[in-house]
Amino acid sequence: MRIGLAYNEKPDPAPDADSDSSSDAFAEWDDPSTIAAVAQALSRFGSVIRLKADQSLPQKLVRARPDLVFNMAEGLHGQSREALVPAICEYVNIPYTGSDPLTLALSLHKGRTKETLAYRGVPTAPFTCMETIADVARLPLPYPVFVKPVAEGSGKGVFGTNLCADTAALRERVAFLLGRYAEPVLVETYLPGPEFTVAILGNGPEAYCLPVIGFDFSSLPHGAPPVYGYEAKWVWDRPEAPLAIFQCPAQIPADLYREIERTALDAYHALGCRDWCRVDLRVDRFGVPNVLELNPLPGVIPDPAMNSCFPKAARAAGFAYDELIQEVVRLAWRRITGREPGARHAVPPARAAAVPA
Ligand SMILES: Nc1ncnc2c1ncn2[C@@H]1O[C@H](COP(=O)(O)OP(=O)(O)OP(=O)(O)O)[C@@H](O)[C@H]1O
Ligand SMILES: [Mg+2]
Repeated sequence: MRIGLAYNEKPDPAPDADSDSSSDAFAEWDDPSTIAAVAQALSRFGSVIRLKADQSLPQKLVRARPDLVFNMAEGLHGQSREALVPAICEYVNIPYTGSDPLTLALSLHKGRTKETLAYRGVPTAPFTCMETIADVARLPLPYPVFVKPVAEGSGKGVFGTNLCADTAALRERVAFLLGRYAEPVLVETYLPGPEFTVAILGNGPEAYCLPVIGFDFSSLPHGAPPVYGYEAKWVWDRPEAPLAIFQCPAQIPADLYREIERTALDAYHALGCRDWCRVDLRVDRFGVPNVLELNPLPGVIPDPAMNSCFPKAARAAGFAYDELIQEVVRLAWRRITGREPGARHAVPPARAAAVPA
């Protein structure tokens, strides 16, 4: 089997992380070490063709014609950027892992996502989208509210100060985010309860949750609001001093645990996700888990010290990093062909040397 690996690599040297970063343009892109780790895991199935998702991707794809593309490319331009590689794959009729362009574009836009969830009866906080600063005067929600750019990921534009208690704070934050990201700002009811993220694998009725991850916000610097945003992800959490913010599986009452799993799966199906996705949830003031957003191109940083949530949940379920990536390939291949993918090694590589040729 020949597998293409579609990716966007962080520029080298990576821009410095800072709490008011103007250098977060590439926060969603992957480090060379993550791309190498995924390529290594994929080599289990045969040769791996690296496909940097730049402007020549269509030509490279047509020339290489892999049997399957493992898609981890986040894209760069526009609100459909995560949908572009799958769209190109569909255009040239090459199968790929993960969700289709419709789901990827919908999920990147948190407003469209929430409309879909609400229509399907999946709990999500009341919200509005603001396109100009004048919209602040027409806020239809009570304070406190939480604001974020409508179509960013990886904590981009999400700071502790995005929790707004009054009109003055809201005006300042909306002006800042409109200026920085040149896209509408999502303003939603602040969810004061605990937060969880759920990694999901599988398709249709066979989709299932990996162990639920809970967040312990008492590990954030003193006085920081309970928000897992840009500062918590990229500034306060460093490999040499990882934040002890995660609990996996979350230690919570069994009925809440089940409700979180059910809500995450409902969201997965409502958005039409395939193969894998991570769903972020937070509990509202009535104790109901609400969906914040879906991540159908989940981050998969291999180093456990980097606190990447999907690999963390997979580890808790007994999947090594390579096994997680390989499971995504298996799920995609089964969904597309109805068969298991062939493996390059009939036995694990470590033992292959002992087998006579
Ligand atoms: N309505 C809300 N109420 C309370 N906190 C919120 C709300 N919306 C977002 N947050 C906080 O902000 C964080 C980031 O929000 P969100 O998950 O939407 O952004 P993201 O940058 O897309 O995340 P990811 O890194 O998962 O892609 C959440 O993990 C949560 O802590
Ligand atoms: Mg999130």
